[in-house]
Amino acid sequence: MHKTIKISDKFSLILHKIYRMNDKINNRMDVTILGIESSCDDTSAAVLKNGVLLSNIIANQKIHEAYGGVVPELASRAHQQNIIPVIHAALKQAGINKEDLSAIAFTRGPGLLGSLLVGTSFSKGFSTALNIPMVEVNHLQAHVLAHFIKQNESDANHPSFPFLCLLVSGGNSQIILVRAYNDMEVVGQTIDDAAGEAFDKCAKVMGLPYPGGPVVDRLAKEGNPKAFKLNKPQIPDYNYSFSGLKTSFLYLLRDELKKNPHFIEENKADLCASLQYTIIEILMDKLRKAAKDLKIKEVAVAGGVSANSGLRTAFEEHAQKYHWKIYIPPFAFTTDNAAMVAMSGHFKYLNNDFCPMDAVPFSKVVV
Ligand code: KG4
Repeated sequence: MHKTIKISDKFSLILHKIYRMNDKINNRMDVTILGIESSCDDTSAAVLKNGVLLSNIIANQKIHEAYGGVVPELASRAHQQNIIPVIHAALKQAGINKEDLSAIAFTRGPGLLGSLLVGTSFSKGFSTALNIPMVEVNHLQAHVLAHFIKQNESDANHPSFPFLCLLVSGGNSQIILVRAYNDMEVVGQTIDDAAGEAFDKCAKVMGLPYPGGPVVDRLAKEGNPKAFKLNKPQIPDYNYSFSGLKTSFLYLLRDELKKNPHFIEENKADLCASLQYTIIEILMDKLRKAAKDLKIKEVAVAGGVSANSGLRTAFEEHAQKYHWKIYIPPFAFTTDNAAMVAMSGHFKYLNNDFCPMDAVPFSKVVV
């Protein structure tokens, strides 16, 4: 059984190379990639032609709001309902026939297994039907490579290698040294909670809706960031920890609520501003250290938390003070999207880095 799979893998890779030769013979010189993202609670499809974005459709799943977090089983069911209309809309908006596609890029992981299975299975079926190759994409690497998406033909604003990327999302906080599109090294990462989790969990104890990050960001604008002093971790290297901050925030609320039951209501803006200020300080302290030690001046930020206005301002201040050349993604590419998946797929396609038919999704972090 095992041997059969190996032989069929090799066979399918040879087939994919023949597809590429066919493209050349038929003068199909454009590289047109359909990206499919289904790793968590957003179903997304995008079309990228020669690196230029033609469409990026995202269907959010509102169903999780009632539960204060993503419910995996509900997420995979919603992906199943969304995937065909979303892909149809992406092709239509791009003005592309499915026959024009060079390859299908899909998120293989990390993420929720059931959700990933929907995108992976659809990609297998669609690529078989169209006789085109599949390209597997690592979700975290895709967030980093979102910086290379061209918004139009003349868009040349992207980082030069090597650069550092602060990847901050609901599940990850990493400092990545990016030497090439396919050569990334995680030089620091969280040993417990992610930055997004710290925003979300602290927001939850204040009774704010999920996801808490954007709400904290909005309320923080009205508050004093120095109103409350919260714990900053003392851990070595370029690693992060946010569990101590979360606990100190919890204890602050517990102690103050004993004295004044209206403490949260009366201090919401100051609490949000202090929380956001401390999270950003923790993130930037380590990033600054890594940039200094590695002598790198090109610094990017990616992931859901990169939408945070305070973090964006901190990047701009660092650019001024430390002469960094910074790259902050447009809001549409901060949260999960298929444009970044198509971008990763584009690079891999050019490198003939195709994916066999028996590829299965993976849930754990692998960069
Ligand atoms: O990358 P992402 O969309 O998804 C996953 O991690 O799967 O990141 C989501 C995270 C959530 O924790 C959310 O609260 C956070 O990004 N987030 C923000 C903001 N917008 C989204 N955190 C702080 N400020 C924001 N404006």
